[in-house]
Amino acid sequence: MDEIKRIGILTSGGDCAGLNAAIRAVVHRAVNTYDWEVLGICQATHGLMMRPPQAINLTPDKVNTYLTAGGTFLGTTNKGDPFAFPMPDGSLRDRSQEIIEGYHSLGLDALIGIGGDGSLAILQRLAGQGGLKLVGIPKTIDNDVGVTEMSIGFDTAVGIATEALDRLHFTAASHSRVMILEVMGRDAGHIAITAGIAGGADVILIPEIPYSIEGICRTIKQHQEQGKNYCLVVVAEAVRTEAGATVSSSKGLEQCRLGGIGQYLAEQICGRIGAETRVTVLGHTQRGGTPSYLDRLLGSTFGVAAVDLIAEGKFDHVVTWQNRRVVSVPISEAIAGYAAVNPNGVLVKTARGLGIYLGD
Ligand code: F6P
Repeated sequence: MDEIKRIGILTSGGDCAGLNAAIRAVVHRAVNTYDWEVLGICQATHGLMMRPPQAINLTPDKVNTYLTAGGTFLGTTNKGDPFAFPMPDGSLRDRSQEIIEGYHSLGLDALIGIGGDGSLAILQRLAGQGGLKLVGIPKTIDNDVGVTEMSIGFDTAVGIATEALDRLHFTAASHSRVMILEVMGRDAGHIAITAGIAGGADVILIPEIPYSIEGICRTIKQHQEQGKNYCLVVVAEAVRTEAGATVSSSKGLEQCRLGGIGQYLAEQICGRIGAETRVTVLGHTQRGGTPSYLDRLLGSTFGVAAVDLIAEGKFDHVVTWQNRRVVSVPISEAIAGYAAVNPNGVLVKTARGLGIYLGD
């Protein structure tokens, strides 16, 4: 195996809490244990596309203060597939070779890419084409990377959604209202069901389980009959209308931007049973703020393990969390399919056991 002297690290895709903990761990392990140099690539693969490539030398003293900081101090992007990069004139251009040249011009011997399934797929394709030695770390608040029980960012996002529910309880009760909380999660309902159970929701709607407006209204009425004057509804952004339409605000945009299902539900509920209904859309607050202890822990664990994989010469793998252990898995497996909420799994069973309406 070629000797490793200098590695790169980049964050790609939407930001989330815990990314800086992972970068910090990579730097500590690489510099202190292996005596390697670490370059932080700015703005994901865009930094490698620029000339000169945008990268900063990272040392333990420079990264220490970032442990508790949200976001990613390296910057990131979830736009601009390098294989079909949108140019100012509206055309799409394959700019993958520029990234590969950028990697080699920095003298990198390996690269750690922190990303969700989309970013990991792009990085793997670049690695195959250009001989990049790649190791992946999974991050996404959506927690839909199937091979790992937990991705960096999920726990903090769930904590924020749970806290929002805690706050909504009191104002909902004070005004006898139905409160709808719309959360992120892309095509999966992990944030919604986890926060919904932890935050005491009465109704949890996730894309994996069909629902009916009639079923929601029946639940609200049952609560009223039992003396509970308010109701908390959590809905994942990808839940469709009863007729099966996606609710989004993506007209004219490059990517589908989900959002608006909460407002749709409010109108349906109010129209059907006259309940006073309000909507809270949590949006990007779920990605921001101080990382939870678990995201710092996961980021630190993954960072150290990713560097160790490079030292072992085990490339094209991603580190994952399975049964309280870090397990490395081929990237191809990690991107093969996304993990939806299991309709027969423990969380759905728990929610139903608590009398929460999840669908019919
Ligand atoms: O994938 C992470 C995520 O936060 C999704 O939950 C959400 O749908 C999307 O990114 C939002 O993306 P953007 O930051 O482009 O609005």
